[in-house]
Amino acid sequence: MKIVQISDTHLSPSKTHFNDNWEPVARWIETTGADLVIHTGDLTIDGADHEEDILFSMELMRKLPVPVLIVPGNHDVGHLPGSDQPVDADRLVRWRTLVGPDYWVCDHGTWRLIGLNSLLLGFENAEEEKQFQWLEQALANRDGRRVAIFAHKPLFVDDPMEGDTGYWSVTPKQRRRLYELMAEHDVALHASGHLHWAWQGHHEGTDLVWGPPTSFIIDTLEREMPGERLVGAVLHHLGDEWIDSKIVALPGLTSYFIDHVIDEVYPRHAKKLAEAAQ
Ligand SMILES: [Fe+2]
Ligand SMILES: [Fe+2]
Repeated sequence: MKIVQISDTHLSPSKTHFNDNWEPVARWIETTGADLVIHTGDLTIDGADHEEDILFSMELMRKLPVPVLIVPGNHDVGHLPGSDQPVDADRLVRWRTLVGPDYWVCDHGTWRLIGLNSLLLGFENAEEEKQFQWLEQALANRDGRRVAIFAHKPLFVDDPMEGDTGYWSVTPKQRRRLYELMAEHDVALHASGHLHWAWQGHHEGTDLVWGPPTSFIIDTLEREMPGERLVGAVLHHLGDEWIDSKIVALPGLTSYFIDHVIDEVYPRHAKKLAEAAQ
């Protein structure tokens, strides 16, 4: 089976800064012969507050000639408690109504594909626990299938056992619980987005892939990360006994830098950075 992973498209009908990259991505997907496209979140610029961003982006996704599965990103359903746009019931209902389930399972031959809503992690509330229990079930009844997990946030940034990275990765307590489940259930792959850096590595028996964004990369606005600044996608080949993941830079895409347009695209974030610098 061939899966194209795309991530961080950051599309919007009103903030059109990165929309021009979509056509070349869509055209390239058609040439890959992929069975499935999986979008690992940040579909929109601001779907967390603007329904029209989700509607606009979904119209583009539905035009693809290949089935698409999507997990939400922080710009789609909100982020951690205490952030400017925490995940809440309204945001989750909007996503579930306009896109579909925010976590899902999909079987293909000898593989069980699992999509997680990583933005529920860190709340320690009923929504978080419900997803964990659903995940435990989805892993327990996989019936010998190997498992590939797709989520927006990576498990860690620099070190599998590091402390809380705040904005960037899954919180430590929830990360430990995921590690235990992954070790117990033959999880072959954890593929994510969010960082706008492309990287591949391993933890225990699991391949880790940070899919590159199709929209923008980050120059000096934020901290350096492992991997490389790249706009593109990932091609995952899943065989019966093996998995092969390749990060690809796509022709025809512009490597936009968010640094140059942050005031227009994410004014809240720009204000926070300015306050932090004072
Ligand atoms: Fe993003
Ligand atoms: Fe994100």
